[in-house]
Amino acid sequence: MEIIFSKWTEYFLRNNQNLIDIHWDDHYKLTSEEREIITKSIQQFQLGENSEGKYLINCAKKYVLETQDQDYYHALIEFIKEEQRHARDLGRFMRLQEIPLIRSHWVDNVFRKLRKYAGLELSIIVLITAEIIAKIYYKALKESTNSIILIDLCNQILNDEEKHVRFQSETLYKLARNKSYIMNQISRQFHRFLFEGTLIVVWYQHKSVFKAGGYTLLSFYHDCRQVFNSSKRS
Ligand SMILES: [Fe+2]
Ligand SMILES: [Fe+2]
Repeated sequence: MEIIFSKWTEYFLRNNQNLIDIHWDDHYKLTSEEREIITKSIQQFQLGENSEGKYLINCAKKYVLETQDQDYYHALIEFIKEEQRHARDLGRFMRLQEIPLIRSHWVDNVFRKLRKYAGLELSIIVLITAEIIAKIYYKALKESTNSIILIDLCNQILNDEEKHVRFQSETLYKLARNKSYIMNQISRQFHRFLFEGTLIVVWYQHKSVFKAGGYTLLSFYHDCRQVFNSSKRS
């Protein structure tokens, strides 16, 4: 499989021109029940989306120096812009609903630290782990509310995350080609271990949203696993 990152840059730029029309003028106010279900959860996800990607950009610069694959750098920049749009839009929704934005949370800190001590490949593994789970989370969030704005946002983010998981999978596939069989096995095991651990933490942190979205622990686990398996690199 030939991975051409310039196609991803083209996709991200095209996607940015074809965004869903968010009904920002809708005046629906969340009920106290909805508020109870989503507040703490959406605060954490908004924070998680709001990564400046500085460390990732530095890793990508090193990768470009080693490989001359300048196209990857451009694609990554456009990808980061999409994540920042998610954070911006969720933040805008939260302000409309008077939900305070948070500046830090221990789960987000753990993810950021993990990425900081890792190189490009491990950073992508941490990122794709979060994105696989996001695909289930935003589905549940969409089902947990009657807010048209939030439903629009979830639809847009779900569209984007679908492609993000593919983008990261292709990156991992390309990076794996330059490594030995043993090193690839180690990174796969790490990915599996991180994924399983993250599932437990995410379920307990966000179970009010998952349950409101119709998930049980088992169906959550099953659906996340399915996305994980279908995102395998080779
Ligand atoms: Fe995102
Ligand atoms: Fe993403």
